[in-house]
Amino acid sequence: NSPLQQTLLNAIRTIPDYPRPGVQFRDITTLLGDARAFRRTVDEMVQPFAGSKVDKIAGIEARGFILGGAIAHQTSSGFVPIRKKGKLPHETVRVAYSLEYGIDEMEMHKDAVKPGERVILVDDLIATGGTAEAAAKLLNQLGAEIVAACFVIDLPDLGGRRKLEALGVPVHTLLSFEGD
Ligand code: PRP
Ligand code: MG
Repeated sequence: NSPLQQTLLNAIRTIPDYPRPGVQFRDITTLLGDARAFRRTVDEMVQPFAGSKVDKIAGIEARGFILGGAIAHQTSSGFVPIRKKGKLPHETVRVAYSLEYGIDEMEMHKDAVKPGERVILVDDLIATGGTAEAAAKLLNQLGAEIVAACFVIDLPDLGGRRKLEALGVPVHTLLSFEGD
C-alpha cells in the first residue's frame, strides 16, 4: 500500500460480525469524520478526471451522496441522486437489483441527466456490484455517457468490478480489502 492508502485504511473502522456473523463491516464514518482523510479521499477520487469535462456526478443512496456531493463541488459538476424506490417525487426510471435476500429497486428522475451528458457514478464501496450495475443501467437508459464509476473501497473477492467493466464502464477504486 502507498502512504496515502495506509492513511485512508487507518481512517476506516472495521466492525467484526456486523450486520451478521462472519461479515467484516467497513465503516467509513470514521474516515468522513476525519477532516484530512475526507479531503484526501475526495482529492484522490477526482484526480483521474483533472482537466476532463464532467457534466454530472450521480451518487448512490445513501453513502454515495456524501462523497458524490463533495466530488460534484470539487469538479464543478451538477449532482444527481440515485435513490431507493419511492423517494423521488417527479417522473422516474427504475431498475430492479438483487440483494442478498430478495430484490429492491432504484430510481432516478427522468430529467436528471440529458442524453450525451458525461456522468461519473459514485459510491463508497463496491462488493457484488449489484447496486452499481443497477445504477449504471439507469444512467444508460437516460442516454448518459458514463465516464467512470468511482468507489473508495473495493471488495475484489465479490467480483463487482467485472460487472461494471462488462457494461463498458471504467472502474476506479482507492483501496481493496481482500478476503472479505
Ligand atoms: C452498501 C454500500 C454500497 C452497496 C454495495 O450500501 O454503500 O452502496 O452496499 O453492495 P453491492 O456491490 O453488493 O451491491 P447499502 O445497500 O448497505 O445501503 P446504504 O448505502 O444506504 O447504507
Ligand atoms: Mg450504499
